[in-house]
Amino acid sequence: MTVTHNDNETIIGRAEINDIDAILEVPLVDPNEIEHVVKNNADSIFTWDYSLQRPALRKLYEKAKTGQWNGSTDLDWSIDVDVEKSVQEDQALIGTGVDASMYIGTPVEKWGDKEWLEFGVESRNWSLSQFMHGEQGALICTAKIVETVPWYDAKLYASTQVVDEARHVEVFARYLEEKLGGEFQVNAHLRMLLDDIVNDSRWDMTYLGMQVMVEGLALAAFGFMHQFTNEPLLKKLLRYVMSDEARHVAFGVLSLKECYDEMSDAEMKDRQEFAFEAAIRMRDRFMQQEVWERMGVNVREVIPLVLADPTRAVFQSMLFSKIVPNCKKLGLLDRNDKWLRHRFEEMGVIQFEDWADTGEEYLNFELDAPDVQPVAGD
Ligand SMILES: [Fe+2]
Ligand SMILES: [Fe+2]
Repeated sequence: MTVTHNDNETIIGRAEINDIDAILEVPLVDPNEIEHVVKNNADSIFTWDYSLQRPALRKLYEKAKTGQWNGSTDLDWSIDVDVEKSVQEDQALIGTGVDASMYIGTPVEKWGDKEWLEFGVESRNWSLSQFMHGEQGALICTAKIVETVPWYDAKLYASTQVVDEARHVEVFARYLEEKLGGEFQVNAHLRMLLDDIVNDSRWDMTYLGMQVMVEGLALAAFGFMHQFTNEPLLKKLLRYVMSDEARHVAFGVLSLKECYDEMSDAEMKDRQEFAFEAAIRMRDRFMQQEVWERMGVNVREVIPLVLADPTRAVFQSMLFSKIVPNCKKLGLLDRNDKWLRHRFEEMGVIQFEDWADTGEEYLNFELDAPDVQPVAGD
C-alpha cells in the first residue's frame, strides 16, 4: 500500500508534511483564553466482572499505590532558582539547540549572547508550559479511560494515574508560577492533538493518543532535560514525574497489545493513521512558534530554517525514541504493508525501532532504581 498525497491531506490536512504555509495556518491560541470546551463523545462502561483477568495491569496498580509521592513535601520549594544561570549552564553543556549559522539573512544572524540567553530562557519556559498543558490533557484523558475502558483491572490502574497526572499539573504549574514567573499559552498544534484525542469515541484511541504518543514523547523529553539540567529543583521534579510516566506508558502498551493483537487490518489502519497524525502534530509543535514570536522574529521567515536545521533535527528525532519502539511492539509499524514504518522513515525517526520499549522498561524508572538512563536505548 503506497501513501498518496491524498492520504496525507485527509489525515493531517496537508499533502506535504513540510508544507510551511499549512503549518503556520493553524492560529496561535489566544493567551487570554481561559476555558476550552471539547466534546468527548464516549460511553461510560460499567463492568460486573471484578475477577483478576490481567495480572500485569494489577501489578502496575500495586506499583502505583506504593509509588505515590507528594508534590508539596517531597520537593524542596525553598530552593532559589536562578533561571538565567541555569539556562547558561545548560547552553554551555549542550548548546542552544539551534545551529546559528543556518539563520543568515534573518534577525537571528545578529543575535549576541544576550539574545541567545533570552531565547534559552523563553524556550525553557515554553517547554515547561507545554509539559504542564500536556499533563492536563493526560489528567482529562485518564479520567475518561476510567469511564470508558471495559476492563476492571484497567479501571483500577487508570484511577491511580488520574492522581499522578493531577500531581504533575500541580508541580509544573507551581514551578512556572513561583520560579519562572509566568507561562506560555498552549501550543496550537498540541491543543489540536489533545482535542482529537479527547474527541474520539473509541477507548483505545485515548490510550494510543495519550499513553503511547503524548506520554511517550514526554518521557523522552523529560529524560533529556533531566539528564542535562543542573538546576536541582527541576532535576528532582522531573525525576519524580518520570517515575510515574514510565508506568503510564507501560499501562498503554500492555493494554493496547492485547487489544491490537485481535484487530483486523482495516481497524489497524485507523490506528496507524492516528499515530501518524499525532506524530506530525508533535513535530509541528517543536517548531516553537510562540517562542520565535515572543523574540520578535518573523515565524514565516524562520520556520523553514528551523525545519532544515540539523541540530534541531537530532534533538527532535530523540523525542521519538520511546514512541517508535512502543509502536513496533504494538504491531503498528508493519501492519498494512509497513504503512507506519514508511511514515516514520519519511520523518527520520525509524532508527529507534529496536530501542527498549516501555512495556518492560518502567522498573528502571522507579524512584529507588539506580540512576536512570533516560534517553539511551539501554
Ligand atoms: Fe503526567
Ligand atoms: Fe502520565
